[in-house]
Amino acid sequence: KGGKILVLPGDHIGPEVVTEALKVLDIVEQATGAKFERDFDLCGGCALDKHKDSVTEEVLKKSEQVDAVFFGSAGGPEWGTAQPNPESGLLRIRKRMQIFANLRPCKFASKTMVERSPIKREVIEGVDFMLIRENCGGAYYGNKIEEADYACDPWEYSRPEIERVARVAGALALQDDPPVPVWSVDKANVLANSRVWRRIVTEIFEKEFPHVKLQHQLADSLAMLFITKPTAFNGVIVTDNTFGDILSDESGGLTGSLGLLPSASLAGAPGTDLGRNSVGGVVGLYEPVHGSAPDISGEGLANPVAQVLSLAMMLRYSFNMHNEADSIEEAVAKVLDSKADGGLEIRTGDLGGRATTKDMSEAIQAEVKRL
Ligand code: NAI
Ligand code: MG
Repeated sequence: KGGKILVLPGDHIGPEVVTEALKVLDIVEQATGAKFERDFDLCGGCALDKHKDSVTEEVLKKSEQVDAVFFGSAGGPEWGTAQPNPESGLLRIRKRMQIFANLRPCKFASKTMVERSPIKREVIEGVDFMLIRENCGGAYYGNKIEEADYACDPWEYSRPEIERVARVAGALALQDDPPVPVWSVDKANVLANSRVWRRIVTEIFEKEFPHVKLQHQLADSLAMLFITKPTAFNGVIVTDNTFGDILSDESGGLTGSLGLLPSASLAGAPGTDLGRNSVGGVVGLYEPVHGSAPDISGEGLANPVAQVLSLAMMLRYSFNMHNEADSIEEAVAKVLDSKADGGLEIRTGDLGGRATTKDMSEAIQAEVKRL
């Protein structure tokens, strides 16, 4: 059990929250006997300072060789005009690792999350979906044309790119028993690209996931239903790069706090040969949704939850440690709800409290030990 991880804490609050999350990994090691070999390196502004580049070739090579990458966050105002910019390091790692499936869970697992959401309790309570965004193709890549009075972004997908992300959706649906439903999201009413997407996703599910219920949903209509009836999509949602970019930010907005949102980017589908790492999990990169929060860095005020939940995702997808991932998620929910259950409130500033990173982290660690 265990494996090899590359840790890239990055800049500002990145190292602060990564340090705390790794203490949770220490506890998992002690409890299970698993061993995680950790290689620490630089990416982002810290790499620019030392190597004059946002990521070195050596680190890119390492990212291809490890079982998983655990990333903090990169960037900050002090590298404002630097070339390349610090965030480009992460983009280059993503490209090298071919992590084409970006996963963002939207799960209201604690009373506090429900309470913090800008959406009414009756509407948001019970929401539990996984949004998968195709992250290596579509309108954000390809040969762009940009002239003074004309521009064109080719929105291209070919069969293998659609098939592999559809397989991730099917594989994730099968992790539940019975399998959860899958929604494929597109604009097949107006985009040729979407019609091909829809046909190929349908073929993959008919052939490879006959027991998973697949439905199709138009992206604009989903954008509205996320606000009015989000529980209708409990399950897995899979969509292309553009729609996924917008819908994942919208789903993040449902929670009302950046400090709580983890993400995973996978190079394959769990439980298949696609993207398999040396320990039978999937090659992936795990990072919080938030950035480096320079406005609060150095003060020990950052919420470590998003980074800790990213660790749980790493254990689940890259190391097949489902029970440990569940335990960490439960521990976080308990700590967030400590006030709601009549205990002492432990919340960082982003959640309206006055706890420090360390307070919150220690409470989570204590809870993980108990589970
Ligand atoms: P940000 O996510 O860093 O911060 C936005 C706001 O949320 C700030 O007020 C911040 O204090 C707060 N916040 C974020 N994470 C928090 C946490 N864990 N606990 C408590 N409060 C938290 O976004 P912003 O300010 O737009 O970007 C700052 C820097 O981060 C920029 O250089 C940006 O390019 C970079 N960035 C990096 C990302 C990455 O490494 N993947 C992603 C997004 C931004
Ligand atoms: Mg976005």
